[in-house]
Amino acid sequence: MEKTTTLSQLSMTYKVLYSGFLLTIGLGLLMAGAQIMLTHGKADGKAGLSINDIVYSYYGNRSGSKLEAMLEGQMKAMAPDEARFELIQWARDEAPATQWATRIEPLTKKYCVSCHGAESSLPDFSQLKVLQKAAEVDHGASITLLTRVSHIHLFGITFIFMFVGWIFALAEFSQYWKLRLIATPFAFLIIDVLSWWLTKYWPGFAWLTMIGGIGYSAASTVMITTSLVQMWLPRARWGILKPE
Ligand code: HEC
Repeated sequence: MEKTTTLSQLSMTYKVLYSGFLLTIGLGLLMAGAQIMLTHGKADGKAGLSINDIVYSYYGNRSGSKLEAMLEGQMKAMAPDEARFELIQWARDEAPATQWATRIEPLTKKYCVSCHGAESSLPDFSQLKVLQKAAEVDHGASITLLTRVSHIHLFGITFIFMFVGWIFALAEFSQYWKLRLIATPFAFLIIDVLSWWLTKYWPGFAWLTMIGGIGYSAASTVMITTSLVQMWLPRARWGILKPE
């Protein structure tokens, strides 16, 4: 066993510094979770994060367009069935411009443009081009997007786990589990990012994205809680978070 200062022996200065970091990062991780629910969670048009959301986000919903998925999901209440079927049919016919003025524009004007207009931040469906874009079959995340999100995640999150692990390294904890907990987030981060790319081509890998996310959330929760408890609570109250 190496001899180092443990968390409980740290000076007040470092306890405050480390706690400030851990609490802020903990809050950040919660927000990241909420953000995932709010963006990816609705990819399939239904609330809550499911495997389908992950498949739709990365592989795309190749059975149909975003327009169709929304008209069958969140936008279902916006127009009567006949109008929705007209729009879906048009999307399935590859959104021909020839039918715009006669068949489609009157429908969007009547049912959609009140919200999807030029002034709103939503896609402007008074424009043929914009509606055609929504009517394209959805191929999921582009390579450009994946490359960007991957490198941001790998650089950014690695630093978070570097410092969370650094602080937790000073905890009094079974060496066996300490090593595993410190290594886990890095491994799962790589699995997570890898899983997006795999899912883009093979939707069957979506479960790996779930496992990646759950894995590093769990490991960081244990590390953050243990570190805070050992810095601020007397040894007698460490409960299960104490050394072997
Ligand atoms: C009452 C306002 C309202 C009306 C009317 C409305 N929508 Fe929407 N629509 C929204 C909102 C809000 C969103 C964003 C939902 C989100 O991101 O969770 C949205 C999102 C969409 C999207 C996804 C856009 C994107 O690129 O993410 C499509 C497609 C869509 N609506 C189609 C329609 C169609 C077609 C109609 C007409 C039949 C319609 N909507 C009518 C409010 C409306």
